[in-house]
Amino acid sequence: MARGKHGVFVCIEGIDASGKTTQARLLVKSLRRGGFDVVYTTEPSRGEVGRFIRRYVLQRKKRVPIVVEALLFAVDRDEHVENVIKPALEKGKIVVCDRYVYSSLAYQGAAGLDQTWIGQINRLALTPDLSLLIDVPPEVVLKRMKRKRSVMETLRNQRRVRDIYMGMVKQGRLVRVDGTQTVEQVASNVLTLVLRKIEVRTEVKGCADASESTVSAV
Ligand code: TYD
Repeated sequence: MARGKHGVFVCIEGIDASGKTTQARLLVKSLRRGGFDVVYTTEPSRGEVGRFIRRYVLQRKKRVPIVVEALLFAVDRDEHVENVIKPALEKGKIVVCDRYVYSSLAYQGAAGLDQTWIGQINRLALTPDLSLLIDVPPEVVLKRMKRKRSVMETLRNQRRVRDIYMGMVKQGRLVRVDGTQTVEQVASNVLTLVLRKIEVRTEVKGCADASESTVSAV
């Protein structure tokens, strides 16, 4: 995956009903309250392909072929990065993205697709500065879930998805946040991690700006 230039790109991952959307929204609220310019966005995106995915992939009884799923998510991601994420980062904003490429690795990987191939079709996607996993055991999540489950949400599937996510935590690609604590505790842990990352990025950018006197401010 490639690197973005400015801004701070955070993504939040987790199995279905892990609380990641609640946490992403709380994070956005806290950052805005702190005076940061924040864009909240999701995958599948709100673009044409993202809307198609919701209809054609997610809201049906039987899963479409997994290769088709993976390709559609990758196409949606390319469009999302180009149209939403990159422009926001170039303006120096903080982007909080609810699901990203790690969802493809975990969900389409859990369905049996080769991880390397999934990585290849997502090669051009920007690498986030910080990728968090809101981790909750699938058994806990399924008890929480009162609504109708989607095609992705069987216990077996959620276990496989979580195993892949945890593998990415071990590799250092995702930072695990214990999602079994109270909403407020999880939110506070998420905010601490993100603020730390923003500080580091700001310091690095400050050093770069100081050493390149001809470069204009972003
Ligand atoms: P979710 O964030 O749960 O959406 P909603 O707001 O509708 O609850 O994401 C929808 C589903 O899409 C989820 O089950 C995971 C799946 N998904 C993939 O399988 N691969 C991907 O690359 C992405 C982004 C999502």
